[in-house]
Amino acid sequence: MKLYIVDDYNAMSKKAADIVSMQIKTKQNSVIGLATGSTPIGMYKELIKMHRKEKLDFSKIKTFNLDEYYKIHPQDNQSYRYYMMKNFFNHINIDHNNINIPNGMTNDTERECKLYEEKIQESGGIDLQILGIGTNAHIGFNEPNNKFEPYTHLVNLDKNTIKSNSRFFRSVEDVPAKAISMGIKTIMSSRKILLLANGDNKAQAIFESLKGPIVPQVPGSILQLHKDLTVIIDKKAARYLE
Ligand code: F6R
Repeated sequence: MKLYIVDDYNAMSKKAADIVSMQIKTKQNSVIGLATGSTPIGMYKELIKMHRKEKLDFSKIKTFNLDEYYKIHPQDNQSYRYYMMKNFFNHINIDHNNINIPNGMTNDTERECKLYEEKIQESGGIDLQILGIGTNAHIGFNEPNNKFEPYTHLVNLDKNTIKSNSRFFRSVEDVPAKAISMGIKTIMSSRKILLLANGDNKAQAIFESLKGPIVPQVPGSILQLHKDLTVIIDKKAARYLE
């Protein structure tokens, strides 16, 4: 594991964007796994800057998002598709046919999950997966559980996650109770993983994930087994590591 403890959110975002940009420059048709939430917004901003200033070329990349709420319409401004378009895809030269996000409106979730896995396989697998982490140590929407779910699946969101994500909604009742998420094996099969975290409220999840026992009750702990994991966290999130 490569661990970078940086001063603040901006430094985390810049370093993360450098790693993504290096990946794309080294392999133009990289397959990139993407996350939503507050954590990667700064990284997306930096990548957009690189596209504008240095002509960083996204035209050949393919992307797979970790998750999408269920049921939510893609045009709903709380959907993760909407988030991705607004915060990243609308500002870069990605081919929109190369964007993959689980369909949060499907009536056949089993089929949707199977198709998502197949698409990842057909694309040659994920080269670089970006991850945030929940305060309960979830990765993607793999919530603390008594077993690791391997593949893309329908998840019942944890009370903690619903409460925490309610900051993006009008009220806690508006947060969908379910989501479609890549599984642990889907994530772990990525050739490289980049985990980002900032702020005091992530310190416990980071400590347990990086230093604690590998158990499904702490989904992020599985990352200790990955062969090419880079972790970029700010000082606050690193509080219990030092
Ligand atoms: C988002 C995702 C989640 C978030 C996590 C942290 O696609 O899969 O695991 O990364 O909930 O969210 P923020 O960054 O909002 O603290």
